[in-house]
Amino acid sequence: MGVRIIGTGSYLPEKVLTNKDLEKLVDTSDEWIVSRTGIKERRICSDKEAASDLGIKAARRALADANVRVEDIDLLIVATITPDMFFPATACIIQTKLGIKNAAVFDLNAACTGFIYSLSTAQQFLQTGTYKTALVIATETLSKITDWEDRNTCVLLGDGAGAAVLRKQKGDSGILSCYLDANGQYGDLLNMPGGGSRIPATVATVKNRLHYLKMRGNETFRIAIPEMTKSVKRGLEGCGLNIEDIALLIPHQANIRIIKALAKRLSIPIEKVFVNIDKCANTSAATVAIALDEANRQGRIKEGDIIELVAFGAGFTWGSCVIKW
Ligand code: ACO
Repeated sequence: MGVRIIGTGSYLPEKVLTNKDLEKLVDTSDEWIVSRTGIKERRICSDKEAASDLGIKAARRALADANVRVEDIDLLIVATITPDMFFPATACIIQTKLGIKNAAVFDLNAACTGFIYSLSTAQQFLQTGTYKTALVIATETLSKITDWEDRNTCVLLGDGAGAAVLRKQKGDSGILSCYLDANGQYGDLLNMPGGGSRIPATVATVKNRLHYLKMRGNETFRIAIPEMTKSVKRGLEGCGLNIEDIALLIPHQANIRIIKALAKRLSIPIEKVFVNIDKCANTSAATVAIALDEANRQGRIKEGDIIELVAFGAGFTWGSCVIKW
């Protein structure tokens, strides 16, 4: 018996924000953004949309793809760093709006690695038989915590959501191994300092722009490459496979230079690496979930293929998930 992903879905907000648009906001250029990051445009949600709204749309598509009814979901995990509000959990908000009853529901915060942490968590519950059908949603509205005056970060981020439905089924397909890791020592390199119990919201915290995402990009970049490389290898070691066995590698999309460096270190041809950073930018936890759905719908994953998901994000957290499709 294996825990399989039986359906995927994603949702990108309608509004497209191009690099040219950003040239009007900060001192940057399309040329700099494309050459330094690989990003050409990103999607931005409307003022009325919150993380739950995006997540619900992705979830409905995943449920339809899996041919699973809402009533059958007994576990809902929502990965996000941009919840609708501190509490209740965005998972509770989505539960009500989708009409899920009699389910365990909770949010999971592992930043960009959130989808992989959530898949692994769902796998444990399904493998033990505690729950039968899990819905994992990764949804982000990073535009709401983006400092549109900070060229170091505002060009990198976007909004979107992805979702997957999981079930334990007969056969050898499914999640073969997950590798999860973290090092909180690096917390200061990528965070949002204001609004929590350490620095509660005041007029001064708003004035000092503490409610926005802050990143020391270059230091983050240098740690991301080795940790993502290690994650891919550890994931494969966990199930006795090799790089050559991978049909498609789906990495977190923070920077095309990170993705290319990763491919080079792993000696995996770039054709076997899924890339959508040009259109979506970095949507934190949602990134790998959206990429998985796009790869699935584009027919880039065939039944029996070995694929690997890998991510790295705030915390720092990092990890991977090897799946036989
Ligand atoms: N336009 C023009 N110039 C810019 C811009 C911009 N948008 N942003 C920065 N620059 C400038 C800098 O000010 C600097 O100028 P200086 O040399 O005069 O000081 C110069 O470009 C180089 O800056 P670096 O930060 O050294 O550039 P780098 O090559 O490292 O690229 C980037 C920056 C794109 C942020 C890169 O470091 C990166 O991708 N980092 C990792 C991101 C990541 O993996 N994040 C983790 C996941 S995110 C999450 O969890 C939400």
